[in-house]
Amino acid sequence: MSNRDVIARDLNAVWHPCTQMKDHEWLPLVPIRRGEGVWLHDFDGNRYIDAISSWWVNLFGHANPRINAALKDQIDSLEHVILAGFSHEPVVELSERLVEITPAPLSRCFYTDNGSSAVEVALKMSYHYWKNCGNPNKTKFITLTQSYHGETLGTLGVGDVALYKETYKPLLMEAVTVPSPDCFHRDPDTSWEQHSRRMFAHMEAALEAHAHETAAVIVEPLLQCATGMRMYDPVYLELLREACDRHGIHLIADEIATGFGRTGTLFACEQAGIVPDFLLLSKGLTAGYLPLAVVMTSDHVYEAFYDDFATLRAFMHSHSYTGNPIACRAALATLDIFRDDDVITRNRALSAHMRRAVAHLEDHPHVGEIRQHGMVLAMEMVRDKSARDPFPWQERRGIRVYQHALTREALLRPLGNVVYFMPPYVITEEQIDHLATVATEGIDIATRD
Ligand SMILES: Cc1ncc(COP(=O)(O)O)c(C=O)c1O
Repeated sequence: MSNRDVIARDLNAVWHPCTQMKDHEWLPLVPIRRGEGVWLHDFDGNRYIDAISSWWVNLFGHANPRINAALKDQIDSLEHVILAGFSHEPVVELSERLVEITPAPLSRCFYTDNGSSAVEVALKMSYHYWKNCGNPNKTKFITLTQSYHGETLGTLGVGDVALYKETYKPLLMEAVTVPSPDCFHRDPDTSWEQHSRRMFAHMEAALEAHAHETAAVIVEPLLQCATGMRMYDPVYLELLREACDRHGIHLIADEIATGFGRTGTLFACEQAGIVPDFLLLSKGLTAGYLPLAVVMTSDHVYEAFYDDFATLRAFMHSHSYTGNPIACRAALATLDIFRDDDVITRNRALSAHMRRAVAHLEDHPHVGEIRQHGMVLAMEMVRDKSARDPFPWQERRGIRVYQHALTREALLRPLGNVVYFMPPYVITEEQIDHLATVATEGIDIATRD
C-alpha cells in the first residue's frame, strides 16, 4: 500500500475535521502507517517529527512501550462497562490518584470522553449548583476574547474563534466576553505582569455588572492555545480567583490543553497558586492514547447535588463511554511515567533548549514575537515588525510553513500566522535543533513576498 492508495480511498469515504475538503485538491493528505517516539511514518517511507503532539495530546511519544503494555493487560480483563450503577478498578484508582496530584479542595472526578464534553459538564454543573442552592438566575458565563473551549454548541457559546463560531451564532448561548490579557498586545515598555494586571480591569468591570446573573468565569490558564498560543501572566489568575470569591462566582479552569506539564508545571494554575472550582483535564490525561476527560470539583459542589432522588437535584448527565476502563488505564500509565521519571524537571532543560534554538529569530524582520510557557513555544509572523501588523488571514502563510516542514521531516501546523512547537516530552535536543532550522526556513519562505 502506498500513500497514493490510502489517499484515494480516504478522499472517497472520509470527511476530515476542521478542514475545507476542497483544499485537498492541492494540499496532499499525509497518511500515517505507524508512529514511534516523536516520529510519524507514512506509507512511502517518509517520516515526520510530530512537533505538535498530534493536536496537543501526545506526551511520551507514539507507541510508548510502557503505555502499550498497560493497555494490552487491560484489554484482556475488561474493555468497557457502564459507569452508572457499576464501577471498575481503573476508574477508582485514577480518581484517587487525580485527587492526590491536584490541590485541595478538588476531591471529586466526573468523567466524559472528550474535552468539549468536559466543558459542557462544567457549565451545566456550575449553573445547576447555583440552582440547587436557590440561585436559579445565575444563567450567564464570562469568558475571554480569543478563548477556545471546543466546538459543540455549548462550548462555542463560551469560545471566541470567529472562524468556528460565526456561522452558528444564531444557535448559541451568549456569553459575556471580556478582552483577553494576551501579552502580545502590551505596550513595548510594559511587562507581562503589568499588562495582565492592567487588563484585569475589564474583568473586574464585567464581574461588577454581571455577578448577580453569572454562574462562572471560564478561562484557559496562562495559555490560549487555539487562537495562536496567546500567553499571559499568572497574576491574572490570582486576581481572578480573588474576584470570583468576592463576587460569589465559580472559576472554571480549562486545562484540557495546558494540563500535564505543557506550561512548565504539572498544571498551569499552580503557577498562580490558585485552585479553581472546576478543573478540566483531557488530551495529555491519556498521553494521547485514548479519548478521556475529567471534570474535577470539590466536595462542597458535590454535596449540593446529594439528596433524595425525588428532589431532582442529581446531575443527570452521561456519555456511553464515560470512564472507559482502557482509557483510564492509559491515564494511569501516564501518571506512572510522571511519578517515576521526574518529567517536569527534564522538561525544564528541554524548554530552555527550545528557546535557545530559535533565539536567532528574534531579529527576523517578519517575526513579531517569540513567546514561551514551558514546553510551548510560539513565533508570530508579522507583516511589519515594529507595528506588529499581522499578515491578512486570507493569505494563509502558515500553510507555506506546513508544506515546507513536510519536505524536511517535520510536522509543524501553524495557527494562522503563529508557528509553534508543542512536542512530545521524549524529544531530544538534536530534534529540537532540527525543528528550529525547519521553522526558520519555513518562516523565510512564508514571509518572502
Ligand atoms: C482549551 C481547550 N478546551 C477544550 C478543547 C476541546 O477538546 P476536544 O477537542 O477534546 O473536544 C480543546 C481542544 O483543543 C482545548 O484546547
